[in-house]
Amino acid sequence: MIVIKSDAEIKLMREAGRVVARVLDEVRQAVAPGVTTARLDKMAEDMCRKLGAVPAFKGYRGYPFSLCCSRNEQVVHGFPGQEPLEEGDILSMDFGCILDGFYGDSATTVAVGQVSAEAAELMRVTEASLMAGIEQARPGNRLGDVSAAVQEVVEAGGFAVVRQFVGHGIGRGLHEDPQVPNFGAPGRGVKLKPGMALAIEPMVNAGGWEVKILSDGWTAVTVDGKLSAHFEHTVAITDNGPEILSLP
Ligand code: MF3
Ligand code: CO
Repeated sequence: MIVIKSDAEIKLMREAGRVVARVLDEVRQAVAPGVTTARLDKMAEDMCRKLGAVPAFKGYRGYPFSLCCSRNEQVVHGFPGQEPLEEGDILSMDFGCILDGFYGDSATTVAVGQVSAEAAELMRVTEASLMAGIEQARPGNRLGDVSAAVQEVVEAGGFAVVRQFVGHGIGRGLHEDPQVPNFGAPGRGVKLKPGMALAIEPMVNAGGWEVKILSDGWTAVTVDGKLSAHFEHTVAITDNGPEILSLP
């Protein structure tokens, strides 16, 4: 069942989204060679609480941290740790919070110093695919229009979309209906209506789309060991089209 949010509820989600965006902005600026992802996790949690919100992921189904830090061949749900970042790494950071009963959820991938041309292109295409998906998140369109737009940009760029993880509805729950795949056919799936809120989150691999989970039970990595990038926004569908809620 897809929950339709009132204007007042979307307003609260905008506030939750703003916290997530401000936290990701702060940690993004702290990313540099020599910095540990454990430090970024602490920064994210501290800033979130300072802004009056609660980190959403810590304790969610047993996930042990506030910030997901997925490095290089790690796709999503990587654990922050004491291993310092190195020049040439790419780092995906995913953060969620709860504010006034509503969730915000967003992710970004950043370069650590200078990165390879392929890594830069992977990040550029992944973010472009997210924006193409968001552009389709408007009343009258169907969910498949969002999914197909993401897939089209990714595959035209020579990369592959991950199948095993998908985006999701979001609101009073972190994961609500519907699932939002990053692949599919235009014109298919549920009709999009004002008041729906979606977390659209392409996970894009430089090689094949296959991923596996490490023995920690969380960290998803590419099977071929090639790079992966992840961008995510929380988006409301309004009469006027898509509104990105996870902006500062
Ligand atoms: N953005 C991811 C998601 O929506 C982050 C979840 S991490 C978890 O699924 F720890 F909360 F699972
Ligand atoms: Co999400």
